[in-house]
Amino acid sequence: MKTPLNYTGNKSRLMPQFIEHFPKQVGIFVDLFCGGATVGLSIDAKKVIFIDNNLNVINLLKHLSKYDFKTLISRLEVLIEKYNLSYSAKYGYEKYRKELDKRDNNGFKGCNTIGYYQLRSDFNLIENKNSKEALDLLYLLVVYAFNNDMRFNKSGEFNLPVGKTDLNKNNIEKLKNYIERVKKINCIFVCGDFREEKIKKILLEADFIYADPPYLIGNAVYNETSNWTEETEKEFLNLLEILSKNNKKFAVSNVLSKVGVYNKPLSDWILFNRLDLHLNVIDIDYHYRGASYNKINRDAKEREVLIKNF
Ligand SMILES: C[S@@+](CC[C@H](N)C(=O)[O-])C[C@H]1O[C@@H](n2cnc3c(N)ncnc32)[C@H](O)[C@@H]1O
Repeated sequence: MKTPLNYTGNKSRLMPQFIEHFPKQVGIFVDLFCGGATVGLSIDAKKVIFIDNNLNVINLLKHLSKYDFKTLISRLEVLIEKYNLSYSAKYGYEKYRKELDKRDNNGFKGCNTIGYYQLRSDFNLIENKNSKEALDLLYLLVVYAFNNDMRFNKSGEFNLPVGKTDLNKNNIEKLKNYIERVKKINCIFVCGDFREEKIKKILLEADFIYADPPYLIGNAVYNETSNWTEETEKEFLNLLEILSKNNKKFAVSNVLSKVGVYNKPLSDWILFNRLDLHLNVIDIDYHYRGASYNKINRDAKEREVLIKNF
């Protein structure tokens, strides 16, 4: 599964490795810190619970799961027309050939600048961000935004600049696959912080929890707004201890070190709890070629791991 939200740090490439280490038959599976929901969508379980504290992400995932593909795409096409945005999945590249800025490798940026900023400002003016109208616009914003990310300022306004891509065949495919898959599985989406009681309750009723928190030594967009600090990391590690004591199976993704920086709280915690919690640290072979924030560090060595307690 590839996420229709093109989430930075999404785990689609890692799924074949993860599946080898996940339990084979799962009743209730929790995808904690689900982001684009790649992991929960890719596994076989009786029930999948997606949890993230980003209300916009949860609302958008829910929204995209409500409609059939044809209904949704016809609404999106009306908006693409209204904002005069490029639509290479339908018209190919030829229609935009003249405007495609090859020299600066800016893709569709030139074609979409005016329409994108109009779309963004219309979205920001909508009061109810959970309305059908707002969420259709939000999906398009992600598709046309810089890096296909989702970022809001402190006043809740979407603030990414226009990007290079548009609604191309690849995005259509991901959207279609998502809609099909999400309708096939038994799943729910919950917005909440891992420290909330309601979330702990869900976790304690689960059979297996996969957690992909922001990385203490990461630099993705959600790290800017989620304020993931050493303190938060320790609270999260404390939660893992509670889960273990309640005989819950978990697997956690993280990066232990990269270019001279290392995650000390996590490394210390592993050393200290390895035997008691039956921790198993598996090295993951990852070349994050897709994520542009990592292109800068293409050849940088980082130690990406999956930590499990079974
Ligand atoms: C590494 S990303 C998850 C990527 C995801 N596994 C995927 O494949 O797309 C981390 C996620 O944690 C969420 N998050 C950050 N702080 C959180 C918190 N305190 N409680 C719950 N979710 C949080 C962010 O919104 C972000 O979506």
